[in-house]
Amino acid sequence: MNALVKFVDAMEILDSRGNPTLRVGVMLGDGTVGVASVPSGASTGRFEARELRDGDSSRYGGKGVRQAISNVVQLIGPRLHGQDVSRQAEIDQLLVHLDGTPDRSRLGANAIVGVSMAVARAAAAAAGLPLYAHLGGPAACRLPVPMMNVINGGGHADNTLDFQEFMIVPHGAPSFAEALRYGVETFHALKAILKSRGFRTAVGDEGGFAPDLGSNEEACELIVDAIRSTGLEPGTDVSLALDPAASAFAVGGRYDLVRSGGGPKTASQLTELYRSWAHAYPIVSIEDGLGDQDWEGFREHTDMLGADLQIVGDDLYVTNTQFLARGIKERATNAALIKLNQIGTVTETEEAIAMCRSAGWNYVISHRSGETEDTFIADFAVAMGGGQIKTGSLCRSERIAKYNRLLEIERELGPRASYVSPFNSPRRGSLRS
Ligand code: PGA
Ligand code: ZN
Repeated sequence: MNALVKFVDAMEILDSRGNPTLRVGVMLGDGTVGVASVPSGASTGRFEARELRDGDSSRYGGKGVRQAISNVVQLIGPRLHGQDVSRQAEIDQLLVHLDGTPDRSRLGANAIVGVSMAVARAAAAAAGLPLYAHLGGPAACRLPVPMMNVINGGGHADNTLDFQEFMIVPHGAPSFAEALRYGVETFHALKAILKSRGFRTAVGDEGGFAPDLGSNEEACELIVDAIRSTGLEPGTDVSLALDPAASAFAVGGRYDLVRSGGGPKTASQLTELYRSWAHAYPIVSIEDGLGDQDWEGFREHTDMLGADLQIVGDDLYVTNTQFLARGIKERATNAALIKLNQIGTVTETEEAIAMCRSAGWNYVISHRSGETEDTFIADFAVAMGGGQIKTGSLCRSERIAKYNRLLEIERELGPRASYVSPFNSPRRGSLRS
């Protein structure tokens, strides 16, 4: 087997928001190719790895990625020539050293993550394995429970909702395929309910509806109604998850619910609000319920909610083991969101996951709001075995591509496939007291 890199190529393509991004190809000596496309966030964490954009206002409003592409072709490619793609960790370390900055700003996190993912794909192809089996080994049989973002607000939509994501979690299904059906049927029921109540059914960046509701809470009510109207049981078959992405409305130590007219709140008041919702609705998980600077608020938040709910840090950790180590020590949350492009390489992402595992934390493999048709994270979620993925709503092909890939994987695994809920069930209001 000749799994040595011959050359690395990259081209400028578009993401789901119509912004430029990279597609990277790693070619091996025997003609094997690994290709990967790079996603891009909108509500990015303060400390996440930096994507490189050209800043040339004559092209794509400055968002072109020609410099990042040149870095892949001119700088990274020659250094990877002759490297064995089965040695992912060594290649990733080489990429990190070649960049030399803590935030990947020299070569660009978008350039680096594209190469790292394409190397993994090339290695899988060279080994004659599907990506999930190459990265996860023969034990990789667990299909993830999806968190499906059916109502969009905050930085992903132009509406009255302060909170960014209201998600459904079909954890009570017997298989991934059935979970997907539960999600889709709930999504369509939600559309009918919104229509019948005079709300618009246009969708936001991740394919969830983006109505101008009277309050953030109304989103939870509507979703529970939608689950019920399909004949499914809220809390048993399908529960709710939130990603308020609170960094976006954190101002001067407060949280200002400007869009919905909810007014300013302290961290404690916001945590109290989540607590009251968790009594009223079957919520299983809250991500970034507070801002990424608010470590103190998070400790109290997790202390109050963490025994009953999955409390996920996204902007707080940015898939970075430095921040994760602090979060574990301080019990800031009890779970983490995992995004490859927040840190930059496959290996560093796996290190963040290993840290979660050894702390006994849940972790959720996640897409970005700007996505492509690339399905890397579907395989990655199965490979890592954490049993959760967040990859958007039930429309828009860049989201559906990941679900369709998971259907393929489940089919391929046949009787070896498992679909296990990471949550206790049933739930009515989630909190015990
Ligand atoms: P982003 O948002 O991809 O726009 O950063 C996703 C999230 O906050 O989980
Ligand atoms: Zn988030």
